[in-house]
Amino acid sequence: DIKGFAFDLDGVIADTAKFHSQAWHQTATKVGTEWTPELQEALKGVSRMDSLEMILKAGGHENDYSLAEKEALAAEKNDNYGKLIATLTPADILPGMQAFLDELRAGGYQMALASASKNAPKILKYLGLTDYFVGIVDPATLHAGKPDPEIFARAAEVMNLPADQVAGLEDSAAGIQSINGAGELSIGIGDQLSAATVKFTDTAQVSLANLRAALGE
Ligand code: G6P
Ligand code: MG
Repeated sequence: DIKGFAFDLDGVIADTAKFHSQAWHQTATKVGTEWTPELQEALKGVSRMDSLEMILKAGGHENDYSLAEKEALAAEKNDNYGKLIATLTPADILPGMQAFLDELRAGGYQMALASASKNAPKILKYLGLTDYFVGIVDPATLHAGKPDPEIFARAAEVMNLPADQVAGLEDSAAGIQSINGAGELSIGIGDQLSAATVKFTDTAQVSLANLRAALGE
């Protein structure tokens, strides 16, 4: 039985995936990498420095920048992103997610955050959602980011639950791979997540009743 839920943040709870894309698009233009829908999708769930490496590689620029220059590019992206998220309010919680969090809390489920974003605590505060979570995995302490299972395994630890009692919610292929690798139940949100055990087309579909129905319970 599922007793806890590990949430991704960007694109699952908050409508911030578009802001990451907007800021990375600027970086791609600056380094001369063509911005494509495939690149945009592949960057979802990927850490800041890994995202920059993917953008450089996509344009064949992986050897054109020193570490210091890469750090400056990543810092500039984060500044641009920071300006975009400063406008967030509870109105930017994705459809259905406030109700789902309330339903889980009322049902006595545990909740933890498994976001690769170092901006996650700030975003939860802007959205007024901090108190729902028993813990937030700090991505700075990870050995490997998504698709590695570590972050979702750590979320189960935070909730003090074995992996088979945890469900993870994700909008990225890298994240679904991480959940599956951790031995948890993967719930994919969006239409590009064939590896997810349960699939919802959008956040408005996410509820305990729909989850039970999808699992045939
Ligand atoms: C999430 C997003 C990614 C982002 C990553 C790191 O996983 O889906 O697009 O690159 O977090 O975010 P940060 O805020 O630390 O740069
Ligand atoms: Mg996401």
